[in-house]
Amino acid sequence: MMNIQDLEKQFKREFDQVDTKTFFSPSRINIIGEHIDYNGGSVFPCAIEIGTYAIAAKRDDNIISLISTNFSHRDSFEIQSDLIYCEDKQWVNYPMGMVWSMMKRGFKVGGLNILISGNIPNGAGLSSSASLELLIGEIINVLYNDGNIDKMDLVLAGKEMENDFIGVHSGVMDQFVIGMGKKDNAILLDTETLSYGYVPLKLDGYRFVIMNTRKRRELKDSKYNERRQECERAKELLSSLRPLNHLCELDEDEFDSLSYVLTGTLLRRARHVVTENTRVKAVINAIENKDMPELGRLLNASHHSLKEDFEVTGIELDTLVSLAQIQQGCLGARMTGAGFGGCAIALVKNEEVEDFISSVSKAYAEKIGYEGEFFVSGIDDGVREL
Ligand code: GLA
Repeated sequence: MMNIQDLEKQFKREFDQVDTKTFFSPSRINIIGEHIDYNGGSVFPCAIEIGTYAIAAKRDDNIISLISTNFSHRDSFEIQSDLIYCEDKQWVNYPMGMVWSMMKRGFKVGGLNILISGNIPNGAGLSSSASLELLIGEIINVLYNDGNIDKMDLVLAGKEMENDFIGVHSGVMDQFVIGMGKKDNAILLDTETLSYGYVPLKLDGYRFVIMNTRKRRELKDSKYNERRQECERAKELLSSLRPLNHLCELDEDEFDSLSYVLTGTLLRRARHVVTENTRVKAVINAIENKDMPELGRLLNASHHSLKEDFEVTGIELDTLVSLAQIQQGCLGARMTGAGFGGCAIALVKNEEVEDFISSVSKAYAEKIGYEGEFFVSGIDDGVREL
């Protein structure tokens, strides 16, 4: 937990203002439904208690000035409609992009001093970027729009800016769960229609352990956009047989009967997408039936598919997940988020969590040569003023 009083003191030292508001934006794990939010599939993420805090206050001019306790780079920018991505601005591109996106939507934006402090491990695939985007969105919402902006508008502004300002062609999952998250619940989200429902995450004596490979990656430089293009191409080829808006419109039987038009890489990419979408529905059933072994089996199957068919894991994630899967009290494990490094989750019996962490941690460090990082987090509400 962050010490808010220390942050307030630091804010006063840096900006010489005391009339401030405090905000929190969570990060997320995705329980299942990976790399299908840009294929019209259903995903099942939840917001977690680790996240990004901010102390913020209005300024009378047109400047947004930002300091983060996590990065030495501090910066400010002038509010204008033609802001563009600029490498030198580093993490400040995210606040800039959010301002750009909110102005495009006609929301009021004005001068701000903001001190940011996060406890999300960076580049860990827990969506620190969407957490920061929604945080800035909520600050602008509360300080300049009387809190009247619908959370869905913040979600869509975040996605749009990620796609068109940063240049990562991500789906809507991360922004959605960070905006709309609910304590102790995961969200079943249909990414085609944006219809959603909350599912209480009662795991019957088990919990998720979050495991960080500590292999960092930035989505911008990863093969994320390449995977997205491969899915598009597979969809185009399948569309020659039947009209198709998204790969996830196909169930497994239909896919089997049509997939002869695909070969090699594209066949494997599309197979992951279609089977993963089926697994999401099966996970909901397993949770509703309190069938934890089945939930574990589905997590393992998802990882296998992401490793062999979608190829977004890598040695660190595969090592961590296979070490987790063989531990006593662990029913299943998989990578979570975009992959290429970052984090995995494991479903572990409550009483075994401590032993699980110490065994996996030791074995991982021996195999990979540096330590991983392990934590357990509660499931949290979405972005908010504290
Ligand atoms: C990243 C993207 C999401 C989603 C996941 C993979 O987190 O931001 O939109 O595609 O990867 O499931």
